[in-house]
Amino acid sequence: MSVIRSTVLGCGSYLPEKFLTNEELASMVDTSDDWIVQRTGIRKRHIASEGEFTSHLAVKAARRALDNAGFEAKDIDVIILATATPDNTFPATAVTVQHELGMHHGFAFDIQAVCSGFVFALATADNFLRSGQARRTLVIGAETFSRILDWQDRTTCVLFGDGAGAVVLEARQAEGSIADRGILTTHLRSDGSHKSKLYVDGGPSSTQTVGHLRMEGKEVFKHAVGMITDVIEDAYKATGLGSDDLDWFVPHQANKRIIDASAKKLGIAPEKVVTTVDQHGNTSAASIPLALDAAVRDGRIKRGDLVMLEAMGGGFTWGSALLRW
Ligand code: ACO
Repeated sequence: MSVIRSTVLGCGSYLPEKFLTNEELASMVDTSDDWIVQRTGIRKRHIASEGEFTSHLAVKAARRALDNAGFEAKDIDVIILATATPDNTFPATAVTVQHELGMHHGFAFDIQAVCSGFVFALATADNFLRSGQARRTLVIGAETFSRILDWQDRTTCVLFGDGAGAVVLEARQAEGSIADRGILTTHLRSDGSHKSKLYVDGGPSSTQTVGHLRMEGKEVFKHAVGMITDVIEDAYKATGLGSDDLDWFVPHQANKRIIDASAKKLGIAPEKVVTTVDQHGNTSAASIPLALDAAVRDGRIKRGDLVMLEAMGGGFTWGSALLRW
């Protein structure tokens, strides 16, 4: 049976030049390199410079993804940008990116699912492509979490950073088997009853301010592994595939302990796990495409490899995407 598969043709990423080490943070709040590394695996995080916005990071990552795919902006129909830190309350940061890329056709919009944003954007793009409403999409995750952190709160400010990553997807005919290249299945979930465990204490409608990130870290940790493994098991059920079939596991890069515990629970071998959280901390919606791009550039992920993506974030939202590169 012939089907349309949303196939990744290129990826790219960008981290701001400026970065902050754990030692530097220890001079700002009561923390230490040892504490941060042991509890999270994070060694540094990149911070956007003054005047450097989410759209600027997104455009840089998008240009790299387009180059990697061998396309120009004129070849793209739709831009979907996942962010919880838009340049402005409106318009969507995606339309700024569209303009900066010189694209005046098609359409662009943002998706807000916090750290799960990239998986939600990928699933949305997959639906546009499989339904025939688009031929090529640019999916971007871009964040400047440094702008919503309370830099006096050591329980959160050590965890997050800024960055962007992007992929180019094309609708391609395929056989309809698990051997196809492209997205094989996606599974999205949310449960708003967990809102108070991870949120920003401001917004246009509530406080008319941007607000700061607030988190009950222990509570997030407690739920994360179960939620992540649930949606991955959904992907296995939908395809008949399992952990042994995976070539690579590219999780949301929030915390090395969550990543390791999820991989262990699922029986995914440690050498298949792509971890970049040490290099950039939790970059929310940007973290998966940052990790993907790192593993593609260093030659680990190759065409035909089976790759599992997953994320969990504020809301809570969580999701998985299983694809063949
Ligand atoms: N440096 C030093 N000490 C600290 C720091 C810090 N940066 N932060 C907290 N502490 C202290 C606490 O005050 C506490 O001290 P006390 O015992 O005197 O009260 C002690 O360290 C232990 O604090 P806990 O919160 O119990 O530490 P825990 O082992 O739970 O680790 C952490 C905290 C790293 C936040 C962990 O709970 C976690 O990883 N949670 C998940 C958070 C996460 O990844 N969120 C993002 C996922 S969703 C998304 O991506 C948006």
